[in-house]
Amino acid sequence: MKLLVVGGGGREHAIIKKLKENKTVETIYALPGNGGIAADAVCVPVKATDIDGIVRFAVENNVDYAVVAPDDPLVMGAVDALEEKGVRCFGPTKAAAIIEGSKAFSKDLMKRYGIPTARYEIFDDMAKALEYVKTCPIPTVVKADGLALGKGVIIAQTREEAEEAVRSMMEDKKFGKSGEKVVIEEFLTGPEVSVLSFTDGETVVPMVSSMDHKRAGDGDTGLNTGGMGTVAPNPYYTKDVAQRCMDEIFLPTIRAMKKEGRTFKGCLYFGLMITEDGPKVIEYNCRFGDPETQVVLPLLESDLLTVMTAVTDGKLAETEVRFSDKSACCLIMASEGYPVSYKKGFELTIPEEIADNVYVAGAVLEDGKLLTSGGRVLGAVAVRDSLKKAVDAAYGMARQISFENAYYRSDIGARALKALEG
Ligand code: AMP
Ligand code: GLY
Repeated sequence: MKLLVVGGGGREHAIIKKLKENKTVETIYALPGNGGIAADAVCVPVKATDIDGIVRFAVENNVDYAVVAPDDPLVMGAVDALEEKGVRCFGPTKAAAIIEGSKAFSKDLMKRYGIPTARYEIFDDMAKALEYVKTCPIPTVVKADGLALGKGVIIAQTREEAEEAVRSMMEDKKFGKSGEKVVIEEFLTGPEVSVLSFTDGETVVPMVSSMDHKRAGDGDTGLNTGGMGTVAPNPYYTKDVAQRCMDEIFLPTIRAMKKEGRTFKGCLYFGLMITEDGPKVIEYNCRFGDPETQVVLPLLESDLLTVMTAVTDGKLAETEVRFSDKSACCLIMASEGYPVSYKKGFELTIPEEIADNVYVAGAVLEDGKLLTSGGRVLGAVAVRDSLKKAVDAAYGMARQISFENAYYRSDIGARALKALEG
């Protein structure tokens, strides 16, 4: 089979490495891929948001199956456009991807179907939003309605900060159209858990749970990033919590989407907070998480392509999806200064013995050399019998990888290990 994967980060590298394990796969094209992905797939310089370019490439190259990984093309309708030309796909249609594309939509969906989430108000009028912020409980959370590269959420500790957040989104249009509407919601507390799931719209199969580390600095300090590391499984996701999530969140969400005429097929990501009142939804993503995928897929024992095509064909209920009971850690190595400003273009050396377990996010190939090209450069991933061993091994890998300006947190997995010690 000829496969196409849309995207070019560490998540796509993890998807591609896993897809390659299937013996029927002849070629995988990555659009656009990156310098590290080039070791595992044929990279083609078509942007992930160039829907026409993606469709043209898929048709001209007789692609049998396409996996659309990032949020932007999904929300723009890449799956609809590919399917219209007869290309089978993994990923939700535009109508279903709105579950991530509009927070106002997802909050209203949860309210209407009784799915637990933070209390909220939606505003498209700035004066009303500012008026509300004068009296709402503090801290409060201000969110841009649309996609904002993971930066559209501001936790305001004071009324002034909340007001500033509203103005930055609605007046200064910091996130463009995405901030025309804002959601202002209750601040929840508790450990966070990410659960990615496979769903064909009828059946939902949660993958192994994971924990992201979103802040740039040790001890969860500093700015929010795309994710500085992940571990799986997440110790806060106990059997009881998992059962409640299935009954109160996962199944109700899938059924709600179907009822709305927006049947969701693909990977639905549940960003959860385990509060004192039980698990609540912080966010939905219409796709695999990054860097959650880099710890979840290495633990998948079943064949990824088989599971994905079962999702596409509506046969997930009959398909085995088995995960290993080992633990995994992904340590992100970034460029110093990320997520604000950083230098790039430094040569990257990865010893051959560990290259299979390195998922490259931001590097280009130039004259046979890998050069850093992004804020997040790579994820060093280790799978071991215990979380402690996986964390130690990921740090051991990072010490063998070098590039100028490399930065990584020193406490990835620490919170999970502490929770395990109990
Ligand atoms: P999101 O982009 O929706 O994942 O939000 C980014 C981060 O903001 C989440 O991972 C949470 O840590 C935090 N967050 C979002 N919504 C809330 C909330 N209602 N209460 C507390 N923290 C939140
Ligand atoms: N790691 C969070 C996300 O993919 O949105």
